[in-house]
Amino acid sequence: MQLAGQIAVITGAASGIGRATAMRAAREGARVIAVDRDAAALAELGPSIARSVAGDVLDEELARRTIEDTVHAFGRVDILVTAAGISLGKPALDTALDDWNSTLAVNVTGTFLWIRECLRPMTAQASGAIVTIASQLAQAGGRGNAAYVTSKGAVVALTNSVALDYADQGIRCNAVLPGATETPMLQRSFGRQADPQAARERSRLRHAMGRFGKPEEIAAAVLYLASPDAAFVTGVALPVDGGWLAA
Ligand SMILES: NC(=O)c1ccc[n+]([C@@H]2O[C@H](COP(=O)([O-])OP(=O)(O)OC[C@H]3O[C@@H](n4cnc5c(N)ncnc54)[C@H](O)[C@@H]3O)[C@@H](O)[C@H]2O)c1
Repeated sequence: MQLAGQIAVITGAASGIGRATAMRAAREGARVIAVDRDAAALAELGPSIARSVAGDVLDEELARRTIEDTVHAFGRVDILVTAAGISLGKPALDTALDDWNSTLAVNVTGTFLWIRECLRPMTAQASGAIVTIASQLAQAGGRGNAAYVTSKGAVVALTNSVALDYADQGIRCNAVLPGATETPMLQRSFGRQADPQAARERSRLRHAMGRFGKPEEIAAAVLYLASPDAAFVTGVALPVDGGWLAA
């Protein structure tokens, strides 16, 4: 059990990568605080999850209260994983200001707020591991999703800033860059294309391994970065992308 007794806050925990990470962290012995705006899907996570918090990651008061309640109940916060995210799939010319603002808000501000709130107990206890979820597109770029690609670049920059600012206080901060991963978000993104099947094939073949990732494969990398095995790893953006960036 890699995370025995650790307290892990995971946003976006009701679906896809966040869900797989929450279930794996619980199996590894962590007490998981699962945060998501989808209350119904949160309720389906089952009894291995210590606490479920239904709400928007952009709710500053919710973030503050959730972390305070967690410290009150469990005494500490060891791990934060920020997996909540959205993708609207539009090139710049089609991106309304609302699309731009909402994407940057959820993906960047929603990551920042939860990091800031977790840094309060983590600096007090002089330990902690933060793992953000960016995307291989943060490094490779990508067509037809200007706000999303921009937001993921910002997540990597934020991860690096936090890693540098808190490295001497026992806190590590790393990003995972997933390739296209079989989740509801990916299904939705192909569904928006004129020919979803052709878009799916193009994306699949863009990976050197010729397949999509599984949420559990991304969760395994998150777990590594969150665990004591990564004790000397900080400020890293780890591709878990079936060779997308290598190609
Ligand atoms: N699936 C992929 O191919 C892929 C690739 C690279 C990166 N990512 C990133 O991985 C992360 C998880 O994506 P996924 O594919 O599992 O998506 P998903 O849609 O399956 O899950 C995202 C979860 O985040 C929650 N969420 C979204 N906005 C929220 C908000 N404002 N407040 C609270 N919860 C909110 C949703 O309710 C959902 O449960 C995202 O940051 C995504 O950008 C995904």
